Amino acid sequence: MAILGIETSCDETACGIINLDGKVLGNVVASQINTHAPYGGIIPELASRAHLINIYKVYKQTLQESKISSKEIKAIAVTYGPGLAGSLLVGINFAKGLSMSLDVPLIGVNHLEGHIMAALIRDNKLILDLDNSFFPSLCLLISGGHTELILMKSYDKFSLIGQTRDDAVGEAYDKVSRLLGLGYPGGPIIEKMAKNFSNKNRYVLPRAWLNDSYEFSFSGLKTATMNLTNKELFSNNLNKVETQKTISDISYAFQESVFDVLFSKTTNAATEFSCKNILISGGVAANGFLRENFLSKSSFKVIFPEKQFCTDNGIMIASRGLIDYLKNKKLDENLEVTPQLNIL
Ligand code: KG4
Ligand code: ZN
Repeated sequence: MAILGIETSCDETACGIINLDGKVLGNVVASQINTHAPYGGIIPELASRAHLINIYKVYKQTLQESKISSKEIKAIAVTYGPGLAGSLLVGINFAKGLSMSLDVPLIGVNHLEGHIMAALIRDNKLILDLDNSFFPSLCLLISGGHTELILMKSYDKFSLIGQTRDDAVGEAYDKVSRLLGLGYPGGPIIEKMAKNFSNKNRYVLPRAWLNDSYEFSFSGLKTATMNLTNKELFSNNLNKVETQKTISDISYAFQESVFDVLFSKTTNAATEFSCKNILISGGVAANGFLRENFLSKSSFKVIFPEKQFCTDNGIMIASRGLIDYLKNKKLDENLEVTPQLNIL
């Protein structure tokens, strides 16, 4: 007996299957990176078309990997939002059709709640027996579309503490990568460039503190990085080696600025709300620089998802669905696309 999770909110077509004990049975992700890379960002129309092409194949492959038959699926969890409307529709309608044909319930999952669950998967198993000693915990959600601080009071009681006023962290990584003439997605490339810094202290980029609130802003950092790039990279006649060094030093300064703000605000919120743990989820949580610095500098217990579960996947959606299934929540009969954040 198992739960199927379907995720199509952005540019990954993903299915995941877990059993009722939370064990991961199958996890297949069809990435669209090559489709969007030439544009330096996601083109929504191309994303929904690619989901249409991929969804059935990804589902079939996940079943095969799980070594179960479709009859063993007890419920279908699907991302209903937030996300790109056209992309969400593909996953939701596929899930609706499948739930009718298999005669099993459909569970709508908020994408952000899915990302939070990803941090609770260890050794391919969702941890289902956390007690009050784990809560409250604070989740920092950092992805291509989101930068949020969320207080977790239990497995499914969340409240929003703060969020970005403009760009999400991952979006800032992607845009900075584009302006430095690097590829897409920007996060892993900037991380790699920053590792080859020639001088850590060569540049200092601004930090947006916003009166020490729990709100974030990364658009100023992006503009400052653009101005620095224009001054240092494009107005000087640099040779190849100097160009690489400059790109690496700018990337390093960018990452430092991002880390300082995320670390300080997350630590302050965790202290104010007497949190026992800090969970850091979402695509940007795959970043080694952020992981190492959070783990070495924080006085809180910091929990990251395993890298494969940082970016969008079906397992995180199945995990959230399993919690609802086990709690026997009222299951959605008339699921509709809800592209905005409406849980918190
Ligand atoms: O969670 P995700 O797969 O999709 C959204 O829900 O947005 O996150 C994708 C984002 C992209 O912006 C990508 O550049 C960023 O995560 N990302 C990274 C890294 N790997 C992916 N950012 C920084 N460092 C990384 N290693
Ligand atoms: Zn995501």
